Amino acid sequence: MALKNSYYERLAGGYLFPEIARRTKEFQVFHPEVKIMRLGIGNTTEPLPQIVASAMALEAVRLMNVETYSGYGDEQGNSKLRQALSERYKKCFGVRLDADEFFISDGSKCDCANISSIFSHESIIAVESPAYPVYVDSNVTSGKTGQFNKGKMQYEGVYYMPCTEMNDFFPEVPSGHVDLIYLCRPNNPTGAVAMASDLQPFVDYALEHKAVIIYDVAYVDYQKERGLVESIYQIPGAEKCAIEIGSFSKWAGFTGVRLGWSIVPKELVVEDTVPGELHRMWSRRYTTVFNGASNIAQAGGLAVLSELGQQSCQEVINYYMSNARLIKNGLYDMGLTVYGGTNAPYIWLKVPDGMSSWNFFDKLLNETNVVCTPGVGFGPDGEGFCRLSAFGHQENITEAIESIRMNLRI
Ligand SMILES: Cc1ncc(COP(=O)(O)O)c(C=O)c1O
Repeated sequence: MALKNSYYERLAGGYLFPEIARRTKEFQVFHPEVKIMRLGIGNTTEPLPQIVASAMALEAVRLMNVETYSGYGDEQGNSKLRQALSERYKKCFGVRLDADEFFISDGSKCDCANISSIFSHESIIAVESPAYPVYVDSNVTSGKTGQFNKGKMQYEGVYYMPCTEMNDFFPEVPSGHVDLIYLCRPNNPTGAVAMASDLQPFVDYALEHKAVIIYDVAYVDYQKERGLVESIYQIPGAEKCAIEIGSFSKWAGFTGVRLGWSIVPKELVVEDTVPGELHRMWSRRYTTVFNGASNIAQAGGLAVLSELGQQSCQEVINYYMSNARLIKNGLYDMGLTVYGGTNAPYIWLKVPDGMSSWNFFDKLLNETNVVCTPGVGFGPDGEGFCRLSAFGHQENITEAIESIRMNLRI
């Protein structure tokens, strides 16, 4: 007799984007003449640089030819791509990691979800609040959390680390014992970043408690200010207690192409492992349940890592960041309180007059026809905020901001 995995019933999230879609659709039914403007979505819109698209097209052509055809590759990723990532870390971030400490995936969401599978079921997880939902949801479905408490908007058994205006959206180190700590910088949704002095206490905590930091750098290439941490391994001791997860999605427009990486250093240890053991386990996971990222996507990744590729991707990022400035300045000039948007493509807007995130969502949609993402969907401390995204064509962003400026009644 097969039984379902009943932990899925505990999932409260997943309701955010469907609920946004439902409310938007309902509004459109009553106002079919209205053009809805979307500032809610974290999806890229601008075309790939030619050097990247051409590299993938060439790889596709190689598959047409018997001499150059390739089938399965190494599950952990193309060795040239792993090497190129290792060189980038050394050159750009001053971090030395072996190429085989990089694992290439079909996008980092799966890595964010799968990584906890190499740790005990008893692990206590700590997450920033607000945070990208997959960190919690993947642990819910694998039974590492308790039930969802609707009153508190929290899962029992999860340690929430509030990121609020009071702490500049950077959490305090846990005061109790936790095992897996998820951190994301620059942060989705708040846009907040990290200095070495912010992260060192987390690394010290992890070393002391034999905990592991899972550090998500999906937006690192959006950082503009100097002196910000680009990789957790810039913090002394992190190679013994941290895993880093990166993505080509927002860096290079690969949201649809699908390519990411994770780094599990050989020096990483927990209470019951020796150096190299967790690295071998993650490698084993790759060979057991994954057959490698697409060879076409990996050819594109190699082109992204070329000098011209990196420059071209940066130009697209600059375009999105000019959108971020338009949004941030536009809202600021209206007297609204806004965070983020300087080192990340997300603007974290404080909802006026103490309204709830969802009430503001409805107000913005009704008065201005603009869709945002209610902050409470990212965790309990997201209540009272909403996220606006800089991904979009500039003319649409300008139109949306103009509509907010003209029509929002505050
Ligand atoms: C913080 C963060 N991490 C990871 C991802 C996943 O990226 P992908 O699976 O496209 O590589 C996203 C996507 O929006 C994200 O916002």
